[in-house]
Amino acid sequence: MPQRITGTVMGSSGTCNGHHHTTGQDGARLVGKEPWWKSAVFYQVYPASFKDSNGDGWGDIPGLISELDYLVSLGVDCVWLSPVFDSPQKDMGYDVSNYQAIYPPYGTVEDVETLTRQCHERGMKLILDLVVNHTSVEHAWFKESRSSKDNPKRDWYIWKPARYDPDGRRLAPTNWRGYFACPTWTWDETTQEYYLHLYASDQPDLNWENDECREAIYEDTMRFWLDKGVDGFRIDTVNKYSKRTEYVDAPVTDPRWESQPAPEMWCNGPRIHEFIHEMNQKALAPYGAVSVGELSNMAGPPEVLPYHDPPGYGRWLGPKYIYQPYALSKLKSHVAQFQTFIEGTDGWTTVFCENHDNGRAVNRFGNVSTPELWAASAKTLALWQATLTGTLFLYQGQEIGMVNMPRDWGIDEYKDVESRSFHGDAVRSGDKQRLADTMHGLQILGRDHARLPFQWDGQAKNGGFTTSDHPWMRVHDGFPQINVRKQSGDPESVLEFWKKALRLRKQHADVFVLGAFRHLEEQDEKRYVYMKECNVPVAEHGATPSAPKRALVVMNWSEQVQKPVDVVHLLGCGEKQARLLLTTAAAAAAAEERQPLLGDDLQAWEGRIYVNF
Ligand code: GLC
Ligand code: CA
Repeated sequence: MPQRITGTVMGSSGTCNGHHHTTGQDGARLVGKEPWWKSAVFYQVYPASFKDSNGDGWGDIPGLISELDYLVSLGVDCVWLSPVFDSPQKDMGYDVSNYQAIYPPYGTVEDVETLTRQCHERGMKLILDLVVNHTSVEHAWFKESRSSKDNPKRDWYIWKPARYDPDGRRLAPTNWRGYFACPTWTWDETTQEYYLHLYASDQPDLNWENDECREAIYEDTMRFWLDKGVDGFRIDTVNKYSKRTEYVDAPVTDPRWESQPAPEMWCNGPRIHEFIHEMNQKALAPYGAVSVGELSNMAGPPEVLPYHDPPGYGRWLGPKYIYQPYALSKLKSHVAQFQTFIEGTDGWTTVFCENHDNGRAVNRFGNVSTPELWAASAKTLALWQATLTGTLFLYQGQEIGMVNMPRDWGIDEYKDVESRSFHGDAVRSGDKQRLADTMHGLQILGRDHARLPFQWDGQAKNGGFTTSDHPWMRVHDGFPQINVRKQSGDPESVLEFWKKALRLRKQHADVFVLGAFRHLEEQDEKRYVYMKECNVPVAEHGATPSAPKRALVVMNWSEQVQKPVDVVHLLGCGEKQARLLLTTAAAAAAAEERQPLLGDDLQAWEGRIYVNF
């Protein structure tokens, strides 16, 4: 059966939420009948920053291979490797110049083959990051395409003639604004036309309308790697392949900018479902490949499920880095929406709060002001993630509570094309307040934070990431406090908490992975409480017959002590049936012994799971 998950990452701008849509499912809710990837834990590796094996300051594939046992011990089922293909690295490998070669600092094609084998030997799977909305300007296809108007590959990219204003000034074909604070068109001198790029000008968009181009994508990127044994792909920007073909101006919604947000022109275009269906039929399904797609810039669940023809999009292509505080109630409603929209459908969702495009969750949602609050909130965020419905994606370093760069690091430490571009824009505006606001936003939301080198060892040079004197990105000064070595084996650590939470998630996948989500106390800005419930009667687990198996998640998302909730009432069971399954509290093991802890106040950033089974 074709196994396809298409998914979304909503709002790199701030909200971190995920929703994936699957097809071909029988709707069964029993774990045994579900495909492996539903209850699997996916772990995203950002290769440049994970582990350097040869001391050149860049993480690499042999480095990753050397830490596979660590991933097994964490409970990882599938590794998602961010792009390792050959690339000039203008957008950290999301600009591919050769899909069949590996960027030499990362290793070789043989290294990927070894990695695949080594994952499989440990019972893990491997998916690669497939970036086929665009290539690098350095890709041979683009070099040909730009060489002349009658080149056979001219139509593999999107070329348009200039427009001219009444004074004869050259204008781009449309007024569209792209992702990285720049227009979507770049003028090419050789053939005197513009090419389209939704991201940086080094990332020209492929023309999916061209049949030959699509076939080349399937053959050269997907089948090539599936033939080598990889298990599937995380598919970058999967909802951008089909553009509206009228190429007209977007309405002027922000007169301060020369170019205007125009996602309705290039998001979920008229042929998107045809393209994805074809890609699945021709390239993925024959291999039984798993795929998870990134759907950014979606308005919400109604657009995700049918996945076409959305009316109004989130217009966050504007001032993305002007930070807006995020109320807990807003987060709750977002999460609830994307937890419940799959009910009664054959759709599927994902769970994540970090990736390489966002700042660290513990800074954003938790509290890093003291070591105690840092640990408590990192654990509570783990408990939150581990109890939500969907396929769980964990991002490297999240499991040890890695944090954002220190505030006193200047813009020079930010390497990301997007951060630099928004910052540059603010500098050029001459507006001091805007610059200060942008820097503040970058300190919270910037994509660079999650890209800092992984912190393995508090006693080793560069936290054990590299022996080089020149790591590609500066190592966080706090690595002696936050690292794997310090946390391994310490029952109170964030890392050991994650392991425990993931084990429980799998053990009770019927409730945590597949169960129905019901939120409670929607408006409370401090307590975060919800119920997970599955239609497997508790009877199967030895208690009151016919009551559904339930888990009550109670978290304190604040520094102030909170009153307990009425656990017995909410679980709908007798006091004897209510049981504390997990708590983030210090000396957790002891607390879990001292059952059932029903009436205790919730300490700062404490989280608990009560169950009726
Ligand atoms: C996706 C990636 C992001 C990249 C962009 C362009 O959003 O997650 O890192 O910059 O696509 O490929
Ligand atoms: Ca290296």
